[in-house]
Parts: sequence; C-alpha cells; structure tokens
Amino acid sequence: MPVSSTPPTELPMPDSLVPSTERAKPAPTHPHAPPSVHPDDEMNPWLAQEARFDYAARKLNLDEGTCKILRLPTRELIVHIPVQMDNGSIEVFTGYRVQHSIARGPGKGGVRYAPDVSLDEVRALASWMTWKCAVVNIPFGGAKGGVICDPRKLSQAELERLTRRYTAELIEFIGPEKDVPAPDVGTNEQVMAWMMDTYSMHMRQTVTSVVTGKPVNIGGSRGRLEATGRGIAVVCDQAVAKLGLAASQSRVIIQGFGNVGSGAAHHLHARGYRILGIAEYDAGLWNEAGIDIPALLAYKAQHKSIAGFPGAQAVSAADSSALLTRECEVLVPAATENVITSANAASLNCRILCEGANGPTTLPADDILAAKGIFVVPDILANAGGVTASYFEWVQDRMGLFWTEDEVNTRLDRIMTDSFRDVIAYAEAHAVNNRIAAYMLAIDRVAYTTHQRGMYA
Ligand SMILES: NC(=O)c1ccc[n+]([C@@H]2O[C@H](COP(=O)([O-])OP(=O)(O)OC[C@H]3O[C@@H](n4cnc5c(N)ncnc54)[C@H](O)[C@@H]3O)[C@@H](O)[C@H]2O)c1
Repeated sequence: MPVSSTPPTELPMPDSLVPSTERAKPAPTHPHAPPSVHPDDEMNPWLAQEARFDYAARKLNLDEGTCKILRLPTRELIVHIPVQMDNGSIEVFTGYRVQHSIARGPGKGGVRYAPDVSLDEVRALASWMTWKCAVVNIPFGGAKGGVICDPRKLSQAELERLTRRYTAELIEFIGPEKDVPAPDVGTNEQVMAWMMDTYSMHMRQTVTSVVTGKPVNIGGSRGRLEATGRGIAVVCDQAVAKLGLAASQSRVIIQGFGNVGSGAAHHLHARGYRILGIAEYDAGLWNEAGIDIPALLAYKAQHKSIAGFPGAQAVSAADSSALLTRECEVLVPAATENVITSANAASLNCRILCEGANGPTTLPADDILAAKGIFVVPDILANAGGVTASYFEWVQDRMGLFWTEDEVNTRLDRIMTDSFRDVIAYAEAHAVNNRIAAYMLAIDRVAYTTHQRGMYA
C-alpha cells in the first residue's frame, strides 16, 4: 500500500513499485541534483514538468526503461481545421490533442481555446493530467487538447463550426474508453455539448460519456461546474489546519475570477475565509475587511467583469498582478501558467500557496518558495476536484443513473482529503517538497500499472 495513515478510499489503492520498507525510510540527503532548467526555458511548462518528473523518478529509484516510457506522451495529434467564417471567408485553425498516458484508463483532459496554445503547453498539460488522475487515484490516464484561436473574437456560430470540425478530426482517437475531453480555459458546457453531439452523430447514437463538463440536462453531473473550486477549499482547509491556523484567521488573495477562481472564492468565503484581493486581467479588487463574494458573483454575472465592483477598492489592471505579493495566509493563483516566477517568488507574502491553475509556478520559483518556507499545495493535487467530478460524470453517464449534489460533494470531499493526506505523508517520508511528493506518488502508481500491463510487442 502507498504510504498513508488514512483509511482506504472507496477505490482500491494500487500497490506500489517501491517496497514499503523503502518508502518508510528517510530519504538520503540530497542524493541528486535538484531539478533545473536553463534560465531561457523558465516559461516552458513542458521542460519544467520533464525536470520535475526526472527528479521524482530518480527519487523513486524508477528503472530507466520505465522512465523512458512515462517521460514522453503516447500520442500527439496536430490538426488543421478549416472553418467558414460568418463573412464567408475561410480560416484554418491549428489544433492539438496529446495523449500522455493511457496506462490506468482512458485519456482524460480538457480542451483549451486560446491564442497562445502551443504543442509544448498541451504536452505539459496532458502529462499533468496523468499525474493528477493518479494522485487522486481515479482510473484515467492523461490527455489534453487545444486550438489556437481567440474565442472572444469568434461568433457563437463560428465557435460551433470550429468545435464540430475539431471533434470530427479527432473522431478515431476520442471515445468513452479511449480519451474523454472536458472544458478548460476558453471552452465551456456549450462547447462540450457540441463535441458530444458531433461524436454522437458519427457514432449514429447518443454517447454522452465521450466528454465531461456537459450541461446537467444532457448527461452532466451535478456539482461538476463547482468541483474544482470546492476541491481547492477542501485542501485549503487541510493546509490551514496543518499549519495550526483557522479559516476565520486566514486572509486570501485569488488571481483569476473565472470558473476556478470564482468557485474557489465562493467556497472559501462560505467556510469563513476572508477574501481580501482578486486579481483579474482587466482589473483588481482589494478590501481589508473582506470582499462580499456572493455580491461580487452577482455583479460579475451582470457586468461580465469584476471592474467597477462597488464593494472594494479598485486596483488598476496594470497593478493587479502585484496583488499576488501582498500579505495573506493563502494565495490562490487560479488564472494561468507561469505567474509565480524567479522574478516575483521572493516577494510573495503568503503562508500557503494553493495552486488552482495548472502550472502557475515555474521550476526556479519552487526553490525560492521552499527557502521562504511557503507551504505549497501543488496544482496536480489542488485543482484535481474538477477531474474527480468529471470521473463521477463519466461513471453516471455509463450507469444511466444520476447522483444528487450531496452524493457528488461527499465523494469529492473524501477523495480530496485523502489525497492531500497521501501527498503530505509521501513528502514527510521522503523529505521532499509537496510538489515532488505528488509527482512521486503519481509516478509510482502509473509505473506500477505500466509494469502490470506489460509491454505490447
Ligand atoms: N475549469 C476547470 O475545471 C479546471 C480544472 C483544473 C484546472 N484548471 C485550470 O485553472 C486555470 C483557470 O481555468 P478556468 O477554467 O477558471 O478558466 P477561465 O477561462 O474560466 O478563467 C480564467 C480567468 O483568469 C483570468 N486571467 C487569465 N490570465 C490572467 C492573468 N494573467 N492575470 C489575471 N487574470 C487572468 C481570465 O480573465 C479569466 O477570468 C487554468 O490553468 C486551467 O487549466 C481548470
């Protein structure tokens, strides 16, 4: 059994490649050089994940052959998608789908629509999905997709045509038992409905379980939309308790007020945390007494932006990223990658960094945070509530039996709590930081399954 003093989760915990006697031993002091990348490559998320993977794999004494298998994605697809625009012209968009690992189950991971999508970014995101699904011990591998486009500049009709053609290009590679997409930055429930419908038209039958994050009336799960934010609140509760703090004493700053950031704000506020600051692209907000989050959510729903919210001091868009360095107990970057870097990590003033976004912290920043004694809840644990609820959605679609929101939330809270404890137990047993511990736990589980399945010649 993996190192954990917690009772077993409802899912069977796989065995480990590392004998328990080895795992219980304290780690030798600095047996390997810490992970590093060339300074010019600090912003490349794939190189950062590679370096962290290599370090964690060496700490596990993983054999070189298994390292070679797990280091690279299984499959990388590049598609060029012709789309007729509303004005009659034709545009060709480039899209990707990367399946990093399918050892533990079908690939699982979101689809991102953004102008700066790149193959290296999608690769990194796909591998993080492998590790994330393994950290929370759900039976999925890791995948991710993306299309280079600016969804804010496309009409609904153009977005629909782009989504349907992208789905059609991937038709042989996705499916409930192959690879199950979900929403990510720039995509939403409507995009998932179009993907599900396109796939179903090709299959000549409705296949709801081909994607997750769908609207509830067409096979979505209750609680899915809020699950990432809820999971963040659950692990924050654990982290705060670990440091001997209480929610009511904890001041929070959040970057991003989209699905993840606003969900985290909602759940943290409901648990008694004081949300002092919110940093968005176009504006920042600050209120020492704590922002009224339900009022801000209502304001954003009406105005589509947090700018101009009357219940807080306005911070200009140019200064909003500086909010990350103000004093607080919990900092939640929930917007995008590479926002905590070698340039600003030393200025952080938080006790806990709970990573809502994927890849918000660069590799060189990890060491700076460790030297400052900041307790990091790494992305592959902190934001895993979303994929966990996606797993529930996939299960419900395949059963044709749908759970109440309470059932979803109870199962989600238990998995997030158990996973937090598993990661911390690994960190303490191996004397590594929480991020490397999460990688080690995940790599151990994926490697074990890879060995069990053996290699197809
Ligand atoms: N949606 C999910 O269930 C989910 C699950 C796990 C991880 N994530 C990750 O969480 C992050 C956010 O995803 P989301 O679904 O909330 O996306 P989203 O598009 O709903 O929200 C992102 C928000 O961040 C803001 N933003 C973007 N860049 C910013 C910057 N540099 N500074 C300030 N604000 C900025 C945007 O304006 C937007 O409001 C991404 O890294 C995503 O991969 C999402």
